[in-house]
This record gives sequence, C-alpha cells and structure tokens, in this order.
Amino acid sequence: MKALIINSFGGPEVLKTDELAIPKPGRGEVLMRVHSAGINPVDYKIRSGSMKMVLGKKFPKILGFDVAGVVEQAAKKSRFQPGDKVFAMLPFKGGGYAEFATVSEDNLCHIPEGSTMKEAAATPLAALTALQAFRKAGGIAEGDRVLVNGASGGVGSFAVQIAKAMGAEVTAVCSTRNIDFVNSLGADKVIDYTSEDFSRLKTRFHVVFDAVAKSSFRKNRRILSRGGDYITTVPNRGLLWHKAFNFTRKKKADFILVKPSGDDLEIIADMMARGLVKPYVQQSFLLSEGSAAHEMIETERVRGKIVFHLV
Ligand SMILES: NC(=O)c1ccc[n+]([C@@H]2O[C@H](COP(=O)([O-])OP(=O)(O)OC[C@H]3O[C@@H](n4cnc5c(N)ncnc54)[C@H](OP(=O)(O)O)[C@@H]3O)[C@@H](O)[C@H]2O)c1
Repeated sequence: MKALIINSFGGPEVLKTDELAIPKPGRGEVLMRVHSAGINPVDYKIRSGSMKMVLGKKFPKILGFDVAGVVEQAAKKSRFQPGDKVFAMLPFKGGGYAEFATVSEDNLCHIPEGSTMKEAAATPLAALTALQAFRKAGGIAEGDRVLVNGASGGVGSFAVQIAKAMGAEVTAVCSTRNIDFVNSLGADKVIDYTSEDFSRLKTRFHVVFDAVAKSSFRKNRRILSRGGDYITTVPNRGLLWHKAFNFTRKKKADFILVKPSGDDLEIIADMMARGLVKPYVQQSFLLSEGSAAHEMIETERVRGKIVFHLV
C-alpha cells in the first residue's frame, strides 16, 4: 500500500511516500481502506521530534490520527461489515496517512448520512477534543455561557458548534479575517482578538475553552463565573501549578488529552446527522503533497481543517 512516512525527525521535507505491507487486523479490529485522512497540529509536532520522549523513535513512522473510508475486512460477528463507510480517531501509534489502516471496533463509527469522506476525516480528533474538554469541565447545561478561544481552528470550529448543539450561549474569539466564518458556525457573539481583549469582558462564563492554548488561567480567572472552568489543549507549567490548587478554589484550571472513542464519535455523528455540526475543510492534499500540507498546518493559520484525499 502507498503510505506517507518519516524515517527520521525533521522539517516537512522528511515526509516521503513509500510502499509498505498492508497491516493485518488483530482481534477486535477491522481493516479499512482509507479514502481521506485528517491532518492535525500534533502530526507536525511528532514529525519534528518534539514528542519523541512520549511516542518513541521507531521508524518508519506513519503519522496521522484521523481516518475515513470503507471497511475492507471485519470479523463475521462484528457490527461493522465490508463496504460500511466508517471514520475513527486512531490511538497514539497513528497510521492514518496510508491507503489502509487497522482500527479497533471500539474506536470506529459509521459516517453519518450526508457527510463526505473529507468531512468525516476532518472530524474525529478535533471534535472529540472539544466534546471531551466540555465533559471534563463538568459538562454544558442549557443556557450556560461558553467562551471558545481559537474558534476558527480545527478544535475551535467544532467546539463552537458542539457547545451550541448542547444549548450553550457561545462567545467565540478569532481574528478579523475569520469573523464571517465563525459567525457561520452559529456563535452568538464574536470577539476579534486583534482589537479586543476578551479577558476584559464583563460577561462571566461557565466554561472558557482555550482551544488554541494562546491564553492562560491567570488571565481568564476574572471572566469565569463562580464554579467555572478554564480548560486548555496544551498544558504548561503555569497551568499545572494552578490545577494542583483546584481543590482550594471555586474556579478551576484544567487541560484535555483527547482519547479515541467510538461512543463519543457516535455523539458527534448524531450531531452531524442532525445538521448541528458541519466540518469545514479548507483544503485537501494528495499524499504526495505531504510536505506542503505540513507547511500549511504548521503556520497555525488554517481555517477549520485540512485533509489528505486518497481515493
Ligand atoms: N491536548 C489534546 O488532546 C489536543 C487535541 C487537539 C489539539 N491540541 C492542540 O491544540 C492546539 C489547537 O489545535 P487546532 O487543531 O485547533 O489548531 P489549528 O487548526 O492549527 O488552529 C489554527 C487556528 O488558530 C487560530 N489562531 C492562531 N493564533 C491565535 C490566537 N492567538 N488567538 C486565537 N486564535 C488563534 C488561527 O486563526 P487566526 O489566524 O485568524 O488567528 C487558525 O484559524 C494545537 O496546539 C494542538 O496541538 C491538543
């Protein structure tokens, strides 16, 4: 099978296409033919070697955590059968940037009617991050006020839509060029961070979700309501220090580490089927354009998501 691999850590140029053996599904896994694979910032962080302490230095590595495609092979009694259209977030060994991937049935979900392969591939990791972050922040109740920082990015664009689907009143933060896009996601209020400091707002929020991890608990504490949570996607020392004192405070600091989950993906698929969540794909690339795709994701300027298109 064709795969986009790295044989060493480095810049976007280390991504190369190669022919590898098709992986064999283990017990409880299906083999899927990948039609589209999502691209996330964590992919370039792994490629550059900045996560090698956690994820190891074994090569060749196939990056990529998001896949959408068709089941090629499954156990007879599986609820997934050859031909089914499915999507998934893969666990931390990755393997998404390839024509075939093996996926645990526990992480797999049918693609909702009306969604394309590219939209499905754009969804799992980013949408699961938002859903699991809101759950970690104690959940969202009807009428809760939620602020999403980085609302135009992969995680943020799902966070706005998922929070709205849960009944929240959403304030979304983005730059001037993304105001129309973020309005189209259904945000109740949009703040342009280039002209307004959202941490000075008079509104008090039940949840501040820092989807791009560009702010801090210290800065946002003022705008949290009593019992409110600040939750970020990339913890730093300051966040961990504040989190250690959560038990002494009414306002809490936390971070999310997304996990694959077929059950959580079902919740998101249901929102997609009901038209409450619509992934936005800014651009798609061929596997042979891997370096260009990584140059783009590394800019931190992508609107919505970018994906590889294989079929
Ligand atoms: N812990 C986890 O489990 C987990 C899961 C997923 C992602 N993450 C991390 O979360 C971060 C965001 O991921 P992502 O997929 O959403 O990234 P992304 O799609 O690359 O984010 C790009 C977006 O961020 C916006 N942005 C850039 N700087 C900003 C700022 N200072 N304030 C507000 N918005 C800003 C950009 O819009 P403008 O150019 O208009 O500003 C752009 O639309 C990454 O570091 C990623 O690795 C962690």
